[in-house]
Amino acid sequence: MDRIISAKANEQDVTTDKSLRPKQLGEYIGQEKVVENLKISLEAAKSRGDVLDHILLYGPPGLGKTTLANIIAAEMGVNIRITSGPAVERTGDMAAILTNLKKGDIIFIDEVHRLNRAIEEVLYPAMEDYALDIVIGKGPGARSVRLKIPPFTLIGATTRYSLLAPPLRDRFGSIYRLDFYSTDAIELILKRSAAILGVQMHDDGAIEIAKRARGTPRVANRLLKRVRDYAQVKADGIITLDVANEALSRLEVDKIGLDNIDHKVLKTIIEKYDGGPVGLETIAASISEDSDTVMDVYEPYLLQLGMLARTPRGRVATKTAYEHMGIEYKGDNPQIGLWQSQSE
Ligand code: ADE
Repeated sequence: MDRIISAKANEQDVTTDKSLRPKQLGEYIGQEKVVENLKISLEAAKSRGDVLDHILLYGPPGLGKTTLANIIAAEMGVNIRITSGPAVERTGDMAAILTNLKKGDIIFIDEVHRLNRAIEEVLYPAMEDYALDIVIGKGPGARSVRLKIPPFTLIGATTRYSLLAPPLRDRFGSIYRLDFYSTDAIELILKRSAAILGVQMHDDGAIEIAKRARGTPRVANRLLKRVRDYAQVKADGIITLDVANEALSRLEVDKIGLDNIDHKVLKTIIEKYDGGPVGLETIAASISEDSDTVMDVYEPYLLQLGMLARTPRGRVATKTAYEHMGIEYKGDNPQIGLWQSQSE
């Protein structure tokens, strides 16, 4: 289902993301720690005339992993080849990509945790020794030949660090975790995007959109475009606080960025399961999604807000969730305390 607040890219995002995406590190807003560290690595590699070490970017969707990879390529002045774990089906596909590189080029593999095992095996010598091991012949007469490839940089992106095979994880020289953006950072991103789109927006209008954008630039930009449409049709084209409020409530995005599906998840846990714990599969079934989607897309923001807690026996709705949903909270769920004391 298409949700206005989904962090997953939809087809329209692909075009707008392009025009709104920062092209240089200097234009990049937020993720200060990552940006600082990247600047140092880039500058060091450039001044040595070296190829950049392999980089792993992980974190929830929509936070700018692809954007960062493109910026890194631009800053290094190299080509970037973009693909994704599920798109590389055969080892031959990977070998073809690797043999067509120039020195210093970047391969960006999105959803790198979804590469199949055989392809990971091709990557290990490629990442470590810039070499491809090719098997010639079949059966007892088969032999392996080592082919040199140009030094390159692999940038892997994943929403699920824990699903990455440890040998692959170990071959990345730098690992950066992207976090949800602060409301202040999202406000700045919105102002930058509004300027690019030529939309007039008041500060309080920007803040209102920022509060509902789930700390995610992709969501912020999508909301901005919908609010702009509303402002154009129903007001005089200027995004004021009132315009933002009215447009966003029509889109059924609440004051903190939750939509009907988030409400349904929280209501299911609270009303049907007395606050939990509830297994991921049960939550997924309640909104007709698969559990991977719940884990990648729906859960991270609810966890970040402290509305959900993970326990060994399932997900639990916290006091904050009850309060937000306007449902009376009857004392601490013993499961939360149990988990905290176990994990200490
Ligand atoms: N647009 C999307 N992400 C951005 C970011 N981090 N900084 C500036 N503009 C953006």
